[in-house]
Amino acid sequence: ASYDMGGHDTYMHKEISEQADAVDRVLRGRIDDRFSTVHLGGLNLDAREARTVRRVKILGCGTSYHAGLIGAQMIEELARIPADAEPASEFRYRNPVVDPDTLYIAVSQSGETYDVLAAVQELKRKGARVFGVVNVVGSAIARESDAGVYVHAGPEVCVVSTKCFTNTTVAFALLALHLGRIRDLSVADGKRIIEGLRKLPAQITEILAQEAEIKKIADQYADARSMMFIGRVRGYPVAREASLKLKEVSYIHAEAYPASELKHGPLALIEPALPTVAIVPDDDLLEKNRAAMEEIKARSGRILAVAHQEQEKADHTIVVPKNEDELDPILMGIPLQLLAYHTALALGRDIDKPRNLAKSVTVE
Ligand code: G6P
Repeated sequence: ASYDMGGHDTYMHKEISEQADAVDRVLRGRIDDRFSTVHLGGLNLDAREARTVRRVKILGCGTSYHAGLIGAQMIEELARIPADAEPASEFRYRNPVVDPDTLYIAVSQSGETYDVLAAVQELKRKGARVFGVVNVVGSAIARESDAGVYVHAGPEVCVVSTKCFTNTTVAFALLALHLGRIRDLSVADGKRIIEGLRKLPAQITEILAQEAEIKKIADQYADARSMMFIGRVRGYPVAREASLKLKEVSYIHAEAYPASELKHGPLALIEPALPTVAIVPDDDLLEKNRAAMEEIKARSGRILAVAHQEQEKADHTIVVPKNEDELDPILMGIPLQLLAYHTALALGRDIDKPRNLAKSVTVE
């Protein structure tokens, strides 16, 4: 399919720019202020049944897997259900123990990724409950799932996923809030999260308005042969997705590490030629993240921080607006989509169709 580029040079740029509207769409009609929760029409989840869920296992590939990592943390934080995410391909080849008390969630933009579909089919065959968090309405994974949440990001053409990633993380926030309010999340916390969700579109617009500065930063880092991305807990999946984005579109090698693991190996790589991108939310781990940046500075590493306030240890800081702690990961990756985009542009890459990659991998 081909869609109007609406004045943008690439679909990637168009899709990054559409995110405030896209997030508005995933929220629309779903917030229930009366009970401080959300309605998810495709879920038909009986509250009594929801209370029997003892674990959540999220499955996806690539960027959708990373959205699942963020989703798992939101479900643990808001619904207090143990949750984790795993690449669908790994899951289906390791003869997993399928547990009736686990809720399985398949995540896919296209709804057609073969490894995810095969995992869903194997789960269904074994009698598991499977939900889908899918963008394309009526796609194979949406049809095979018992229920689901549509992501409503609109068509995404660029091979590299941006707006769909953001919307998927918002869809997970909705699901986490919904499960939380059926369980032990208080009315006050439900209200707090709803207020945070409502702020997202305007905050995204604020981030996108910094594009000119982000481009300048990208031009300075585009000569790097490799880059390190670090974060902890809420920031770590953000670091992983940002590292994937940079690799896919610019072909610069990048790796993501929990900041706490730096000292167990990757610190050996730090030198001026290997810059670090640090995800530094203003949460209870702020001091720990500052200490990690100090370690890097002591080895003459350059640092770009994505943070809620200017970081003096960093050479550059991209300041993003603060939301509720649990929702911060939704926003912190957005400037790094622009960083990847402008780095790829500076290097003359084929942005919408990176070499060796396909938008959806429908074969094994
Ligand atoms: C391909 C794309 C990735 C995408 C992954 C999963 O590898 O290049 O950008 O994240 O598939 O796609 P899905 O449609 O299942 O989200």
